[in-house]
Amino acid sequence: MEGPQIRPGGAALSLAVSAGLALSADLPRERISLDENWRFTRGDPSGNQESLLYDLRTASVSNGETGAETNRATPEPAKEVAVIKQWILPTGNPFIKEASHRFARPEGNPGADVVYAKSGFDDGSWQAINLPHDWAIGGPFTASGGGGMGRLPSAGVGWYRKKLALPASDAGRKIFLDVDGAMSYASVWFNGQLVGGWPYGYASWQVDVTPYARPGEENQLAIRLDNPPDSSRWYPGAGLYRNVWLVTTAPVHVGHWGTQLTTPAVSASAALIQLLVTVDNESERQVTVRVSTALFRLDAEGHRVGAPVANLVPVALQLAPHDSSVARCTGSILRPQLWGPPPRERPNRCEALTTIWQDDTVLDEYATRFGIRTFRFDANEGFFINGEHTELKGVCLHHDLGALGAALNQRALRRQLETLREMGCNAIRTSHNPPAPELLELADQMGLLVMDEAFDVWMRKKTPLDFHLIFRDWHEQDLRAQLRRDRNCPSVILWSIGNEVGEQVTGTNGAALARQLCDIVHEEDPTRPVTSAMNWAQPTNPLPAELDVVGLNYQGTGIRGSPGRYPAFHEKFPGKCVFGSETASALSSRGEYFFPVAAGYGAAVGTNSGEAPPVRQVSAYELYYAAFGASADKVFASQEKNPYVAGEFVWTGWDYLGEPTPFDTSRSSYSGIIDLAGFKKDRFYLYQAHWRPDYPMAHLLPHWTWPERVGQVTPVHVFTSGDEAELFLNGRSLGRRKKGPYEYRLRWDSVIYQPGTLKVVTYKQGKNGPRIPCGPPGRRHASSWSRIGVTYEPMAGISRSCPCACWTRTACLCHERATSSISRSRGPAKSSRRTTVIQRVSNRSSHMTERPSTDFAW
Ligand code: GAL
Repeated sequence: MEGPQIRPGGAALSLAVSAGLALSADLPRERISLDENWRFTRGDPSGNQESLLYDLRTASVSNGETGAETNRATPEPAKEVAVIKQWILPTGNPFIKEASHRFARPEGNPGADVVYAKSGFDDGSWQAINLPHDWAIGGPFTASGGGGMGRLPSAGVGWYRKKLALPASDAGRKIFLDVDGAMSYASVWFNGQLVGGWPYGYASWQVDVTPYARPGEENQLAIRLDNPPDSSRWYPGAGLYRNVWLVTTAPVHVGHWGTQLTTPAVSASAALIQLLVTVDNESERQVTVRVSTALFRLDAEGHRVGAPVANLVPVALQLAPHDSSVARCTGSILRPQLWGPPPRERPNRCEALTTIWQDDTVLDEYATRFGIRTFRFDANEGFFINGEHTELKGVCLHHDLGALGAALNQRALRRQLETLREMGCNAIRTSHNPPAPELLELADQMGLLVMDEAFDVWMRKKTPLDFHLIFRDWHEQDLRAQLRRDRNCPSVILWSIGNEVGEQVTGTNGAALARQLCDIVHEEDPTRPVTSAMNWAQPTNPLPAELDVVGLNYQGTGIRGSPGRYPAFHEKFPGKCVFGSETASALSSRGEYFFPVAAGYGAAVGTNSGEAPPVRQVSAYELYYAAFGASADKVFASQEKNPYVAGEFVWTGWDYLGEPTPFDTSRSSYSGIIDLAGFKKDRFYLYQAHWRPDYPMAHLLPHWTWPERVGQVTPVHVFTSGDEAELFLNGRSLGRRKKGPYEYRLRWDSVIYQPGTLKVVTYKQGKNGPRIPCGPPGRRHASSWSRIGVTYEPMAGISRSCPCACWTRTACLCHERATSSISRSRGPAKSSRRTTVIQRVSNRSSHMTERPSTDFAW
């Protein structure tokens, strides 16, 4: 990843430049935030609605399934209505391998007559905004239609304009606009000239504005976005929802995402470093340059530490005018500090600072952050990183940030990841598209593993106007762009070329397309395997055979009563690792409990099965799931019974906007382990209990304020990392229970409700663990709080070497942090007891359980 991009505290590292502020001319490369001072409006100017269409959106768009159809074709000439895709397609040329498939820009300047694109247009009456910006999240919500896209006004056109004063010293320099993500079908005008654009809303892309720029003057940037309706299965967001940058360089410079760093040999004594540097000569003369690179260690926040730890051998390159060439640089780092996921590993990172010299003049400087690690997916044993077996304890995440919408907010993103890590999550799947660059920076920084996904559809559509419309023209550019942007990130361990694509069912044609995509990935990055998340393909279908690693959505546990398919895939592909690319799809509403409660591993949600249709809520006993899914308990069992499975990615870590299964009349999902506002559902503790077996915790549900249930059966469930617990109601024992094989919760299903205090005492290997008395009872209002004492006692016989005084035997990273809402008292040093007091709201309509705030430290 090109760095630095985030500085400590999460703020973007940039020169804050507003219109009129001169840029420094003596820097070899500048990367300047363009997030401030934009003007925004919805819709096209009247009379121009049809003139700027990217392409015709007809129902007759081909769903062809033949491999031949995926080959690049010459763009079709415009039909009855003028469309601008011929001017947009050339933006992707650098990512098209075959020169003969690249697109020539036609003559003409579409949009010249559209006032919003013109330099002189007065946009003073438009809304003043800063980026990142999501025009739809402000609503209003719509009542009509299904909830798939979140009932928010994301569809339609939006225009963004910004004035840019470029200093005279920019004359002769290259000037690029870098967009981390624009939803969607972006077209860019600079000083009234159509520059290019990019349709896929999740892609990061660059346009070269140099030919249209006027250094020494005020320049006008205009961007038009156009979101089709019915183009997504979830809330896509709308607008310039990620960061936008101005990048200036000398004519001879490192290409866009022009470095690729690999570590082909790693041992305790040394790591071999190989760096490929693409240098572009966009000048009119032949040049000879020297490419040198210094390697630095980075601290936890991404700052260089001290002097270089090594230098790569400098390489000389001769470049003809308008030529590009690759410098192959090698070197080594002695006694490398490896990158890996906590708690066992640490996310140590380095930076390669590459300098392009012409004689003694620095033409460019380019930073590449990286981490040194080895990993493998083993068909029989699962996933290993740095030689350590590491189960993938992952979640799927969509890109929205709840009430903040799709607009990127680094602190909110960090909070998502921190909360997940507290649960024991060590991996993220970027379902189902390339993430914001900041997500990968955070994952690199925090040591989270990433399955980096490209597409939700290929040529077979899921919604009428989704990505299938442009797959044929854009899949190569989108995929190569994602790979070049992300391939230096140590967090990325797996590329996914698609989620549940329709081509699973198209036999050899679908497999041919998968092979084509896999080949692209292997060309761009020979160091990581490729997968695709499959909910339909059987072991005997041709598509899975094309993949390096077999990703199964729900099939591992078994879909709708069919047998779990981990063994069948394992047997058919003895050389390929299998994992749960999407699991569970368990559904719940935080703090809502409905009766009766399902037995065993739970049940598909439905009438009399966890649902309360009048209030559109699903019971938080955490036993209900989408018809094709499974409870967390069931998934845990299927993983344990098939230990060769590398792990899972739960659907989903956080709730997301749109796709409100099972109530299409709602607006957001029920599948999150954490709700839309960031509050933990009971399920959080079920995962924590299983994923952090060394962390002493227990969680009791439901709340105990049920005046209308006196005398009725009210099951009590306990999620604990212990293996045994005793439940007490008003001091009377309701029995001591022990987890059996493949059991992940302790349950007392025939408790008769009486007001009073419910208390559980938990044990691990016969020793006391957390005790949770729940009460006092009878509180009916959300504003009524009760105090709960949680007493932790360490297990005997386990030495505690960690300063946080938890039960972890060795290098513990589960350090508990005192916060203002938690009062904590500790015994003297080396005491065997400590007490934490937490607060818990006890109200049935907004029941909330807060645990001691927990953080990992390294
Ligand atoms: C999966 C799909 C996800 C989401 C989920 C809903 O099949 O891959 O994107 O739709 O179902 O539960």
